[in-house]
Amino acid sequence: MITARSTPNIALIKYWGNRHEEFRLCAGESTSMTLDGPYVDVTVDYADTLHVTSSNKVMTAESVVRFQKTLELIQAYLTTIDNCDVTNLSIDIQSHIPPSIGLASSAAVFSGLAKAIAGLVEIPLTDEQISVMARLGSGSASRSIFGGYGAIRNEENMFIDGSKGWQIADENHWKLHDIIIVPSTEEKKVGSTEGHANAETSPHYKQRLSDIAKRRQKECIDAIAHKDFEHLQTVAEQDAMNMHLCMQTQTPELNYLSDETHRIITEIQEIRTSEHLPVLYTMDAGPTVHLFCEEEAKERILSYANEQEGCQIFEASTGSGAHLI
Ligand code: DP6
Repeated sequence: MITARSTPNIALIKYWGNRHEEFRLCAGESTSMTLDGPYVDVTVDYADTLHVTSSNKVMTAESVVRFQKTLELIQAYLTTIDNCDVTNLSIDIQSHIPPSIGLASSAAVFSGLAKAIAGLVEIPLTDEQISVMARLGSGSASRSIFGGYGAIRNEENMFIDGSKGWQIADENHWKLHDIIIVPSTEEKKVGSTEGHANAETSPHYKQRLSDIAKRRQKECIDAIAHKDFEHLQTVAEQDAMNMHLCMQTQTPELNYLSDETHRIITEIQEIRTSEHLPVLYTMDAGPTVHLFCEEEAKERILSYANEQEGCQIFEASTGSGAHLI
């Protein structure tokens, strides 16, 4: 029996859409920061049949099928490396992440699962290989294998390992904070898995992929490498708003941002201009606003967040990625 602990990551260049749905090969490259919490513990062991239990989530038939499918894909991938059988496991998930509020719990769960399986099988695996296993369960999970700043790069093939995670810089490189404002705790209606499948129906999607490939991914990586907050802010906000434009114009349309989200964005733009604060906003598949900031802006942004009535506030910083405990 082996347990891995993992946390969500928040993308600065967003992963949206696949070039191979079953293998979750990402259409575009992406970049993120791994958070230091909240965490999920995933315990795995060999068993006669697949058995999934969870501390705070009813395991629907649909979610068990996702685990089954993921294990089959991980098995197919591991077979290309060495002999082992991971299709029948007991999987226990102890999650400390509130479900569906814009904190990517699937990223933490599937990176934790991949890390735990890597600990269980007697095959030496690199983090890059473990990131492939994580991606087979959830695309963004690939990045939570790494501490600090992670990314996904694409290879020019459709092999099962054709999109790989890698580490731009570890958690000691640049400490940023993520002040998370959750305007609504309602479960979102359409999850990202369904949304990815229709990404190509947006008339803006081709341009999005081209902008990421030609410019945005590199600019984001450079900004992180040079700890250049101003450039990070520009490129991350452009990319987040562009992903939401694609979501809003795909068929069927996905409107994840609420009036509250837009109000918070406007107020943050005003505050940072008038007070010269290093803070940026980004949103995933929900109305939750992530306010990334440097240490000097943290107290001000936290006090702004705490003034927001009816919102839940979470606080996280740069984290160390999935690890065995
Ligand atoms: C908007 O990784 O959640 O958060 O592979 O279906 O689990 P699945 O999708 P997921 O998609 C993440 C979408 C996003 C952007 C991002 O995290 O890069």
